Amino acid sequence: MNTRRIALAVCGLTVGHARKARARALVDDLSFEVAEGEMLAFVGESGSGKSLTAAAIFGLLPFGLRRLAGSVHLRDTELTALSERALRVRRGRDMGLVFQNPLTALNPSRSVQAQIAETYQVHKGGTRGAAWARARSLLAEVGLASAANGPETYPHQLSGGMRQRVMIAIALACDPILLIADEPTTALDVVVQAQILDLLTRLRQERGLAVLFITHDLALAAARADRVLVLYAGRAVEEGDAARFFRAPCHPYSRALRDAIPAIHGLGGRLTEIPGLPPGPGALPPGCRFAPRCPSAQDDCHQTEPTMRRTAPRCACLHPSLETP
Ligand SMILES: Nc1ncnc2c1ncn2[C@@H]1O[C@H](COP(=O)(O)OP(=O)(O)O)[C@@H](O)[C@H]1O
Ligand code: SF4
Ligand SMILES: [Mg+2]
Repeated sequence: MNTRRIALAVCGLTVGHARKARARALVDDLSFEVAEGEMLAFVGESGSGKSLTAAAIFGLLPFGLRRLAGSVHLRDTELTALSERALRVRRGRDMGLVFQNPLTALNPSRSVQAQIAETYQVHKGGTRGAAWARARSLLAEVGLASAANGPETYPHQLSGGMRQRVMIAIALACDPILLIADEPTTALDVVVQAQILDLLTRLRQERGLAVLFITHDLALAAARADRVLVLYAGRAVEEGDAARFFRAPCHPYSRALRDAIPAIHGLGGRLTEIPGLPPGPGALPPGCRFAPRCPSAQDDCHQTEPTMRRTAPRCACLHPSLETP
């Protein structure tokens, strides 16, 4: 039984257009939890609402979009009830964000040691010397020994993988409860990708960090996460233990994603594409939103919208595959 404390609990999160009442929700009634020390992978095609979910948790939705419903608990604090000022403090201290392109987040004219020290000092106070010592120890922790022990280092002197390590060090500066990694390795080659994911795995084990790992790559999710949550057009369609999920996905969309992986378990295989496109922002089909692309669709699928099963395996499908793995 999992007795770990829940770090993040999202309930009924709905994100949509602030001024277009008839436009469909872009994140639709989404609920999930991440425990301390756990990695939950968010998987789905581009445009399924993964990054908007992260932005809503951080209270940083783009202009024109807003949270229409739902709650976001970080440990015992309801984040959606906080003032902007209080939320800003929480963001820097208790939640870290790492995303695909670290260059846009790093200041090119300041050393990485200074940028980490500053993040620490803004939130934790203390002397400049203590903040620099903390920066160097974090750089060592994320595997950047030369920057930890050597002279000041600037972002342009580092490779993509090393910059991503710096971003992780900044995110960890104040001992956060939650780390959200949004496609953190998409721009990296496979060797560096594996190293960064090894680092995230070690950090969550050693620090008890809750990690929300956002990816469009189901193979990575299955290999790295404890649990997987699949999103389709803003809705959760399946959630479960990663190993079970990969062996026997029960939603047709999850099966299609799994079958699109070219080499399952290293045995080789054929890359199959999922025919069709997800629904656009304005047009949802009646009934199940996956029905136009679903190889298992039946007549009722075009009328009735499926809801998430309450018992395992949890999926939202009128005709799920419930075979034992
Ligand atoms: N600033 C925005 N204004 C309007 N629609 C947006 C905005 N940002 C994202 N969207 C739409 O919201 C949906 C989900 O986007 P996103 O969360 O970025 O997808 P993902 O991260 O899964 O690729 C997409 O259909 C996208 O077009
Ligand atoms: S409800 Fe029907 S259309 Fe939707 S995923 Fe299940 S079988 Fe396919
Ligand atoms: Mg995204």
